[in-house]
Amino acid sequence: MTRGLFISLEGIDGAGKSSHIDALAGLFEAAGRTVRRTREPGGTPLAETLRTLVLSEPMDPLTESLLVFAARREHVVQVIAPALARGEVVLCDRFTDATFAYQGAGRGFDTGVLATLEGWVQGGQGQGGALLQPDLTLWFDLAPEIAAERLAGARLPDKFEAQPVEFFRRVARGYADRAAADAARFERIGADAPREAVRTQVAAAVRRRGWLA
Ligand code: TMP
Repeated sequence: MTRGLFISLEGIDGAGKSSHIDALAGLFEAAGRTVRRTREPGGTPLAETLRTLVLSEPMDPLTESLLVFAARREHVVQVIAPALARGEVVLCDRFTDATFAYQGAGRGFDTGVLATLEGWVQGGQGQGGALLQPDLTLWFDLAPEIAAERLAGARLPDKFEAQPVEFFRRVARGYADRAAADAARFERIGADAPREAVRTQVAAAVRRRGWLA
């Protein structure tokens, strides 16, 4: 059976990643693959309930980290791992890099604790029983000042979107650090380019991996 593919999309709020999921899904579907589009926090009814809490309630950073990893556990066990086992392409709007960027770098929470939780939640859930990680992470990199301009005047901001630009500078550095530490998994997408050019970058990043003709 064709091997499943796990692709995550990451970036600070306002970087525009979510608007590229459908186009990416279309490329894989045109190549005959079954695509599962999903998101974090969320992707199951319970995880979506946890998402609502995390995005609306002020809370202690450990509580917040436990809730996002609890949501992730449900999502991994019920949705992601079974889809990969069926050979599907999973396109996930955010995954664990977001926790290291937002809770770790943004909120200053202990990344050692996050790494422990990552091992508990994703351990043995990958293909071959390894730690489950995306095969590819598309990192939509955009200056926090530009992202803030894009977000201004958009829909009512959630708890994170309402944070000041300094918070997003830390989150952006968090993503840059994760990308540097695992360069083979990450593809940087220059998200300040016009929308069509961003779409071309996304397609090229996937083609470079040999997953699309
Ligand atoms: P979204 O707006 O891209 O759907 O993401 C939801 C928000 O949740 C976004 O502001 C980032 C935040 N988030 C975390 O703080 N930690 C996480 O682990 C994840 C997945 C998202």
